[in-house]
Amino acid sequence: MKSGHVKIDWVYRFMPLLKSIEEEYGPQKPLKELRIGMSIHLEAKTARLALLLRDLGAEVIVTGSNPLSTQDDVAEALRERGLTVYAKRTEDERVYMDNIKKVLTTQPHLILDDGADLTVTAHTEYQEALKNLRGVTEETTTGLRRFRALHKKGLLKVPVIAVNDAFTKHLFDNRYGTGQSTWDSIMRNTNLNVAGKIAVVCGYGWCGKGIAMRARGLGARVIVTEVDPVKALEAVMDGFEVMKISQAAKLGDFFITATGNTKVISEKEFLEMKDGAILANAGHFDVEVDVRALERICVEKYEARPNVTAYRLANGKVLYLLAQGRLVNLAAADGHPVEIMDLSFAVQALSLIHLAKTNLEPGVYPVPSHIDEKIARMKLASMKIEIDELSEEQRSYLENY
Ligand SMILES: NC(=O)c1ccc[n+]([C@@H]2O[C@H](COP(=O)([O-])OP(=O)(O)OC[C@H]3O[C@@H](n4cnc5c(N)ncnc54)[C@H](O)[C@@H]3O)[C@@H](O)[C@H]2O)c1
Repeated sequence: MKSGHVKIDWVYRFMPLLKSIEEEYGPQKPLKELRIGMSIHLEAKTARLALLLRDLGAEVIVTGSNPLSTQDDVAEALRERGLTVYAKRTEDERVYMDNIKKVLTTQPHLILDDGADLTVTAHTEYQEALKNLRGVTEETTTGLRRFRALHKKGLLKVPVIAVNDAFTKHLFDNRYGTGQSTWDSIMRNTNLNVAGKIAVVCGYGWCGKGIAMRARGLGARVIVTEVDPVKALEAVMDGFEVMKISQAAKLGDFFITATGNTKVISEKEFLEMKDGAILANAGHFDVEVDVRALERICVEKYEARPNVTAYRLANGKVLYLLAQGRLVNLAAADGHPVEIMDLSFAVQALSLIHLAKTNLEPGVYPVPSHIDEKIARMKLASMKIEIDELSEEQRSYLENY
C-alpha cells in the first residue's frame, strides 16, 4: 500500500471519537449538500477528519494551512479517495496562497480554518467567496486573534465558532499535544539529549505550559519568559525559573517560542546566546524567532541536518534553527499525537454540524457547552472510565445554597 494510505489507516485505529461521530451521525448525513473548504495542516489525522466530513454528506475541498506542514503522500491518498485537494509541501508562499485561492473559487458554504488564512483571504482578496459562506470553525489561538481583530473593526462578515476555546480542545491539544509533539520534533531532528540542559520556553499560555511541563519531565532545567504578570506568577508557582528573555538568552541550550507574537527572540538575544543553541518555534506563524534578523547578521548559513539550519555569527558562534522557524511539531514532525487530535477534531465535526443547523449573525461564538460535555463523555467512555453522577439532592444543593 502507498505510504499516504498507510498513514491514514494507522490513525483510523486510534481515533475512536471520530468513529463514534461517524456511527451516530453518518446515517442522517447532516452535512449533505454543503461544500466545506478546509485549510489545515494536511497530514494523516486531518485527512481522517476530511474523510469523516465527506461521510457526513459534505463535499470537501482541502488545502494546507502552512506551506511546510503538508505531507504530499497524504494529500495524494486523499485525492485517490475522491476528495479535491489543492496542497503541496512547498517553501514558496505564492504556491501556498494560490492553493488557498483555488479552494475559495469553489465558493464553500462552510470553512474549517486553522490560522484564518482561508477566511481572511475571502474577506480581502476574494470576496466572491463570501457569497455562499454560512460559517467558519477556527482551530487555533492565532486564527481567533485575527478574527476578533476583524470583528472589532466591523469587517467580519460571517459567524466563526471558536473551536480553539472549547475546553476539550485547548486544555488537551494546546497543552498536552504541543507539549509532547514539540519535544518529539526537537529530539528527532537534533538527536540531542535534553536531560541536564537548560530549556527556555517563551510564553506560558496553554502551549507554553505543555512544553515547559514536558521539558521538566525530560530532565531539563526550565526557564520561562512571559509578558503577562499573572502567567509569569503561575509559572513561578509551578516551580519554573522566570526571567527576561535578555537574561535567559545567555543561559539556554534550547529556546522554544509559543506566544502567537512576533520577534520574541531577535538580534540582541541571538548575539548573547551560547554556541550551539537550538532555536525552535511552536507558535502558528514563523515570526516568533526573528529569522530575518538571523539571516541578516549571520556570516555563513548551511544545512546542518535535515530540518536544521546552522547560522554562523560574526562572533564565531553557531545557532541552529529548526524547520526555518515554522511551527516545529508540524513542519518537521507528525504534529500532535493521534488521540489528542481525535478530541480536537471531534470538536470540529460537531461544531460544523452545529453551524449547518443554525443561522448566526457575524461574530465569534464559543462552542456550545453541550458539545464540550458530550466529547468529554465520549472520550472517557472510549477509555472505559466511569465517573459519578450528581444525585437529585446534590443538584438541588448546588443550585440553591
Ligand atoms: N504548534 C502547535 O501545534 C500549536 C497548537 C496550538 C496552538 N498553537 C499556536 O501557538 C501559539 C500560542 O498558543 P496558546 O494557545 O498557548 O496561546 P495563549 O494565548 O494561551 O498563550 C500565549 C502566551 O504568550 C505570552 N506572550 C505574548 N508575547 C510574549 C512575549 N513577547 N514574550 C513572552 N511571552 C509572550 C502571552 O502573555 C500568553 O501567556 C499561537 O500562535 C497558537 O496558534 C500551536
